[in-house]
Amino acid sequence: MARVQFENIYKRFGKVEVVHDVSFDIKDKEFMVLVGPSGCGKSTCLRMVAGLEEPSEGQIYIGDRMVNGVDPKDRDIAMVFQNYALYPHMTVFDNMAFGLKLRHYPKAEIKKRVEDAAGQLGLENLLKRKPKELSGGQRQRVALGRAIVREAQVFLMDEPLSNLDAKLRVETRANIIKLHQRIQTTTIYVTHDQVEAMTMGDRIAVLNGGVIQQLGTPQDLYDNPANMFVAGFIGTPTMNFIPGAKVVGEGDLTKLVLEGIGQIEVPAELAKRARDAASRELTFGIRPSHLEDATLIGESSTRSSIDGTVDVVENLGNELQVYLTAGGKSLIATLDPRSRAVPGNKIRLYVESDRIHLFDTATGESIF
Ligand SMILES: Nc1ncnc2c1ncn2[C@@H]1O[C@H](COP(=O)(O)OP(=O)(O)OP(=O)(O)O)[C@@H](O)[C@H]1O
Ligand SMILES: [Mg+2]
Repeated sequence: MARVQFENIYKRFGKVEVVHDVSFDIKDKEFMVLVGPSGCGKSTCLRMVAGLEEPSEGQIYIGDRMVNGVDPKDRDIAMVFQNYALYPHMTVFDNMAFGLKLRHYPKAEIKKRVEDAAGQLGLENLLKRKPKELSGGQRQRVALGRAIVREAQVFLMDEPLSNLDAKLRVETRANIIKLHQRIQTTTIYVTHDQVEAMTMGDRIAVLNGGVIQQLGTPQDLYDNPANMFVAGFIGTPTMNFIPGAKVVGEGDLTKLVLEGIGQIEVPAELAKRARDAASRELTFGIRPSHLEDATLIGESSTRSSIDGTVDVVENLGNELQVYLTAGGKSLIATLDPRSRAVPGNKIRLYVESDRIHLFDTATGESIF
């Protein structure tokens, strides 16, 4: 097992730069997720660790060894691909044994490792089958098994769940987490799905346009997004953004005024940051779950609230997903089911003022 380091990595294909100055340090045994929209450079980063691409600039380390120029087969990594690429004419056993046979492991050792891995993945009874006789989830487990038997220092997984249906994705996701808890191999996991990233990662690196936007624990990214990209990418339903927020001071009190929509009291500990940013164009941010029907809150609610008109109410039983329009902006609020939100009616939403966010509209950078 080993740590993996990227030091100022750039990758260009011809003149096009697809990875810009990416640095990170993945700790031994850590489960690191690279997440970001399609084309942001996730697979390219992973392929550089695997040795399938060489960086244009910068160094990659696996353990203490700089691996630039090292052949993929000498890097001691195991990779699971999106399309799991099983050999159709081979049994499950032979698919899992293939990499070990290539490396001339003794027969008894191969048998032991394959049987161990099959046990861990619940494949014991399927070893004689061919891939076409397996379900999607079983095939996925064989692909994982093929990686596990190698007992490599680092696992690389590129969207390994993307071919599975929703239920199986959730199940397999949990299996991969359990597996990692047991064998603790350093893992780099690539996905474009923020829920996968949040549920699986010890830490998450959010990539956009080949640049790391933020690297942190799932809770860090959720609570303290570094910019509007991360704020909008992490969390479902996505954060509401209202541009044109004005910082107004009234004695000791600092407020954010959203013209025609409402106003929010800025908590004392954030007041200075808000006032310092007052001359900039600002965008207010609030997550749907940090809004509530003001009639359910009482007195204090009027001090921090947003007024809108309800468009659609979706009742999920434990909560209402309410789509509304406020000052011409579409917003989403996740409300208590006791809310009487009715399509076409006005609604006042209480804003949890200690969960508010403020961004520089021009740069997207977070002020808090
Ligand atoms: N061999 C190549 N030659 C030229 N451009 C490439 C090559 N491989 C990747 N790219 C480009 O580099 C960028 C990053 O690609 P990459 O495959 O890393 O994206 P990704 O984040 O994995 O996306 P997805 O979620 O769609 O898999 C894309 O714009 C892609 O078109
Ligand atoms: Mg990819």
